[in-house]
Amino acid sequence: MAACVCALLSASTGAAGSDAGKPAFTDAEIKTILLHGPWPAPASPDSSNRVSGNADAIEFGTRLFFDQRLSGKGVVSCGSCHVPERNWTDNLTRGIGMAEVDRNTPTVMNLRGSQWYGWDGAADSLWSQGVRPLLDEREMAASPRHVAELVRNDEQLSCRYRKAFGTPPSPTDDESVLVGIVKAIAAFQETLISGRTTFDQFREALARGDPPSAWNFSEPARRGLKIFIGKGACNSCHSGPNFTSGEFFSTGLSQFKPRGKADPGREDGVRQLIASRFNLLGPYNDDSARTNAERTRQVSLEPGGAGEFKVPSLRNLVLTAPYGRDGRVETIADVVRHYAGIDPASLHAKDGRSAKPLNLTKREQTDLVIFLESLSTFNNPWRPDDGGRCD
Ligand code: HEC
Ligand code: HEC
Repeated sequence: MAACVCALLSASTGAAGSDAGKPAFTDAEIKTILLHGPWPAPASPDSSNRVSGNADAIEFGTRLFFDQRLSGKGVVSCGSCHVPERNWTDNLTRGIGMAEVDRNTPTVMNLRGSQWYGWDGAADSLWSQGVRPLLDEREMAASPRHVAELVRNDEQLSCRYRKAFGTPPSPTDDESVLVGIVKAIAAFQETLISGRTTFDQFREALARGDPPSAWNFSEPARRGLKIFIGKGACNSCHSGPNFTSGEFFSTGLSQFKPRGKADPGREDGVRQLIASRFNLLGPYNDDSARTNAERTRQVSLEPGGAGEFKVPSLRNLVLTAPYGRDGRVETIADVVRHYAGIDPASLHAKDGRSAKPLNLTKREQTDLVIFLESLSTFNNPWRPDDGGRCD
């Protein structure tokens, strides 16, 4: 950890001196770099969730996220695995609730506006992603009846439910209460946006047209950025303000076979998505026109890719080790070493185009790591719930 902090600091200091301007960027490079912002990226409310952006729902969702009573045995909450001070993950290889699960716990920061959720994209909305951990035996092992009864019978929770949704929790329809719970939790998770980084400030300096002497971005970070958008082609997948296209690829980074079987990834994610009652084509999408369900309709027609996983964001990586869907890669440098031996650009090629390994030198690998560290910030915008009463 200490080494990461040093490099992070070095990325944020010392550019304004005699070394300013080396390396400079071409106009084409600057255009590409500007695509990774602005930050925070503007986002509109989630049309599938009628309480998206609603202050009462956000407060209710904050309570629920940390409430262990939602789990069947009363001992696990969402916050047990998505820990605020660990950038909303757990720093474990694989998540552990009632038992160990098959995959690494991703952060719940910066998810607003994503198309797919989970490493395999088995959910098509932030709220529907919350159903699985509640019901999964290895995570919270609850039932719709259990969570609905908790909210109905706890005076504070039912008061908050009523404030958020305008009606009390249904006394008979457990599933509708379950959906209300995950929609409030989603409204809370939408507020988790990471702070501005050294990179974001540098990008803004470029956008303003500041001269290189005014850039607060170290030489190694600049060189690393050039590789990222140049010969590394990292930005073909880690694109946009959140450094992810949100799509699915196989990179060979993860190999763990849970219980001796390869993780089917996206292929199985599509199957689960289509089978789910909670997808955007189902009865709980609050956009009655279903205009937000277009992609879900499309994936039911395209076969999903075996062994493909969602491209993760690269923001706040310093805080989220270990890496990859199987959580077996311990450091950012190890991830970069993996890519240094392959041709990332060829990972896109479905036509079997021949791959030429990147063969990054040791120095280039370090530069790339220092650039990736410039995408992190220790500034966690979350403030704990104030414990106020609802009446
Ligand atoms: C046992 C640990 C554990 C618990 C408890 C847990 N999660 Fe997760 N969470 C995970 C893991 C592991 C994944 C990756 C799942 C996958 O890809 O199959 C994940 C994925 C997610 C994602 C998708 C993130 C992304 O990048 O697509 C969201 C959102 C999420 N969880 C929210 C929640 C909420 C809300 C709760 C509580 C209702 C919760 N989680 C409880 C471990 C946990
Ligand atoms: C073809 C798309 C693609 C390209 C190109 C690509 N990545 Fe990735 N990247 C992914 C996917 C998919 C994962 C998750 C893989 C897994 O765990 O199985 C990933 C994972 C990562 C992770 C781990 C993040 C985490 O939270 O676990 C880092 C770091 C990373 N990539 C950096 C890079 C860098 C640096 C480059 C360029 C040298 C690059 N990537 C090029 C798709 C890509």
